[in-house]
Amino acid sequence: MNATQNPSSYYIELEDKYGAHNYHPLPVVLDRGEGVFVWDVEGKRYYDFLSAYSAVNQGHSHPIIVKALTDQAQTLALTSRAFHNSKLGEYEKKITSLFGFDKVLPMNSGAEAVETAVKLARKWSYEVKGIAENSAKIIVCENNFHGRTTTIVSFSNDPDASKNYGPFTPGFIKIPYNDLAALEDVLKNDAQNIAAFLVEPIQGEAGVYVPDEGFLKQASALCKQHNVLFIADEVQTGIARTGRLIACHHEDVQPDILVLGKALSGGMYPVSAVLANNEIMNVIQPGQHGSTFGGNPLACAVAIAALDVVAEENLSERAENLGQLFRAEIQKLIEKTDLISGVRGKGLLNAVLINDTPESKTAWNLCLKLKENGLLAKPTHGNIIRLAPPLVITEEQILDCVEIISKTISEFNKA
Ligand SMILES: Cc1ncc(COP(=O)(O)O)c(C=O)c1O
Repeated sequence: MNATQNPSSYYIELEDKYGAHNYHPLPVVLDRGEGVFVWDVEGKRYYDFLSAYSAVNQGHSHPIIVKALTDQAQTLALTSRAFHNSKLGEYEKKITSLFGFDKVLPMNSGAEAVETAVKLARKWSYEVKGIAENSAKIIVCENNFHGRTTTIVSFSNDPDASKNYGPFTPGFIKIPYNDLAALEDVLKNDAQNIAAFLVEPIQGEAGVYVPDEGFLKQASALCKQHNVLFIADEVQTGIARTGRLIACHHEDVQPDILVLGKALSGGMYPVSAVLANNEIMNVIQPGQHGSTFGGNPLACAVAIAALDVVAEENLSERAENLGQLFRAEIQKLIEKTDLISGVRGKGLLNAVLINDTPESKTAWNLCLKLKENGLLAKPTHGNIIRLAPPLVITEEQILDCVEIISKTISEFNKA
């Protein structure tokens, strides 16, 4: 087998032989991307309805972000934080004023930023709130997804994510998602030992679970009442994906700590961030946390451009309006088929629910058929498919994609 005879098989076999098997990708080998489209190595074009798990909100290879990347790469890429650089301060000023915080701590991956938020909340709880050393707890939600580090998988309840990775980091209390009574219960009983409540405003990986209206607002108020930090993990929901700059804005909530990643760089480069006000962020002093790459000039230049694109192209409004259109169109399909039973989401972070069990292969098989028809999506479970195109998608393209989904469903039903 070689790259000319059968390119897809060749590249898939290479990955299979030489790469760790820590993912189960759809059998498609992508080679190029532009806007809402990607092309495989055979030259076939697809709509990208995953957007690299919501990292490519600004569309593939956005020219403004590419220019920022290439210009900066030719100027200065990495200094480490041992020295100042001429991009970091500008970026810090931009991101803090955009999201309304005093300070930012720059990191790279989403998981690192969540880790940073956990460390920051714990340190704040000892040094400002006055919790006794080593006894701070953080409340998290069942079915959370916050990344893959040892500490983060310690509070996952997905056995695949945690099995045989112990011993685990203690200090986390799990409550059901979207359960204010459970949150209030824990806070009432133990607030003096609780540093923070860490939550995804919409649970993405769990299958796009949107909490009841008012949940975020009331949860944040309960936290305030008990002097507990409200940490919003907006790595997937942030940067216009749900129809607001961050999903917390749907309920006018300003978290105490905001965690961003993914589309903060338009998917061009790993850039993540933790934002907080001085009272919290100032507990971290030189030498107490860091990253060789965090805040490097290349990352800063890319993130500035990526945030500019979000504003200039009104991506929040686009996501809000096109999301409504998309759900309404999918709802029409639901009335015509037994294969899908529901659609849920906010903005352009949506999921369709398949009429089958979470253990079934139906969502996977439907994704294979969608791929044949020119649309790439990935199941989050055996019966849930997340649909999250780049936010630069047009109305015409959304309707074209609904056509593809409709056609695929009718072919699937016949098979
Ligand atoms: C809510 C949330 N937090 C954190 C992460 C981890 O981000 P990364 O994969 O960049 O480490 C993800 C990734 O999907 C996520 O959805």
